[in-house]
Amino acid sequence: MDNIICYCKNITEVEIKDAISKGATTLKDIQKQTGACTGNQCAELNPSGKCCSADIN
Ligand code: FES
Repeated sequence: MDNIICYCKNITEVEIKDAISKGATTLKDIQKQTGACTGNQCAELNPSGKCCSADIN
């Protein structure tokens, strides 16, 4: 399943997992490698109304 995780940057679960398999171990690594969780429109774009950081963690 290729669920969108970060709605601000349009980053999918597959992309997050790919970054993890390439060595990302922290939220910061994920941010650096994918750009996920670097947006600031979470309340408008993410259906959960929150930032995706909890989902990434
Ligand atoms: S949903 Fe990921 S930064 Fe907003």
